[in-house]
Amino acid sequence: LFKQAASLRDFLHKTSGDKKTVGFVPTMGALHEGHLSLLSESLQHNTITVCSIFVNPTQFNDPADFEKYPVTLDKDIEKLENAGVDVLFLPAVKEIYPNGTTHLPQYDLGYLETILEGKYRPGHFQGVCQVMHRLLEVVSADNLYMGRKDYQQCMVVKKLLEITQISTRLHPCDTLREPDGLAMSSRNMRLNETERKQAVAISRVLDRIRHSVVAGPLEPVALAAEKALEENGFKVDYVAIAAADNLELLEEWDGERKLVTLAAAWLNGVRLIDNMLIP
Ligand code: PAJ
Repeated sequence: LFKQAASLRDFLHKTSGDKKTVGFVPTMGALHEGHLSLLSESLQHNTITVCSIFVNPTQFNDPADFEKYPVTLDKDIEKLENAGVDVLFLPAVKEIYPNGTTHLPQYDLGYLETILEGKYRPGHFQGVCQVMHRLLEVVSADNLYMGRKDYQQCMVVKKLLEITQISTRLHPCDTLREPDGLAMSSRNMRLNETERKQAVAISRVLDRIRHSVVAGPLEPVALAAEKALEENGFKVDYVAIAAADNLELLEEWDGERKLVTLAAAWLNGVRLIDNMLIP
């Protein structure tokens, strides 16, 4: 367990060497099976697996969301030990941002920051880049494992790796779901029993889009899905259908291009996101 960046860097420098690889799974804690699946992927393919737990203040555009973010550290540590994870990096805010959280670098993410999560959570992806840039410098991993659950975040981090020319390889991994289809998320802990039952609608509508979309206009398909979510008690930020490779929002589908359908919606104070690849 390392709380200091310098001592972690020192340790990794000493232990990694020829033919040893470091796999890295960054998280904000409140670990669930989805996080563990990323760790298991890293453990299978690397000599050393590093997990970080850091609730990054700079990526929360909504202070209330930051305040309410679940913290379950003892349970997290137990899960990491049982999984056989080698290193936990658990930094304080001043370890990550020694000069404070104002005047941090800004990244040119272009189009990616103007749509979907970028549009509805202004500043969020700048915060993700700020923390990921720092973490990647500390860990200097060979391999980085992140979830497609946060599809746009994976694309943003891919762009960050290009901008910073950090040679870490990003491996996007599949979304783990509850038996009823709800994508696992730390925020699910904040749903009460009724909301938990309603929440499944988000994966249902995406799955319906996935199975029903045909070549032609896409807007009616997305609008019908929004309506279905609203009928299930959600306040919808967006339901979108985009090109899977660059998230271009498409009005028409040629029936060939690989698509992804994404949604973000609120159940009372809890914001849930999900997405599915088509086909
Ligand atoms: P967090 O939400 O804790 O997620 C950590 C990683 O777990 C991310 O790569 C996320 O996509 C992945 N993940 C979440 N739910 C998943 C699921 N159901 N199946 C598979 N993977 C899942 O994402 C963040 O933290 C932060 O933004 C972070 C990258 C750590 C930067 O602060």
